[in-house]
Amino acid sequence: MRRVDLLGVDEVPEGTLTMAYADGVDQVVVVHANGVIRAFQGICTHEYFELDKGFLTGGGSPLPDGSPAGTLTCALHLSRFDLATGEALDPPAELPLATYPVVIEDGRVLIEVPDGPLLVNE
Ligand code: FES
Repeated sequence: MRRVDLLGVDEVPEGTLTMAYADGVDQVVVVHANGVIRAFQGICTHEYFELDKGFLTGGGSPLPDGSPAGTLTCALHLSRFDLATGEALDPPAELPLATYPVVIEDGRVLIEVPDGPLLVNE
């Protein structure tokens, strides 16, 4: 396993999403919604389209407190992805987004991933 530093916590305020680059090349979309920072593959699983051009939307799986985790909607064909699981909730996307476990350390957002290239669903 390895940790990859993506960006500062202050670069992704609550209610926003932004693209980061793991190892300077792999696109990772970092989402801060409902008090949780999460990281997903930066490109949609349907076609090649950057997910930081998408927008945060409601719904999604319930969090432990019962509130919905929220969803990320791809701007190209409007598939929604569940922020709790990465699952595609609407067509045309079928595959889930790859999700990368986030660690917050010293004001930085890091992901903890296996050695080697980032896993991406496509
Ligand atoms: S490219 Fe994202 S839904 Fe089609």
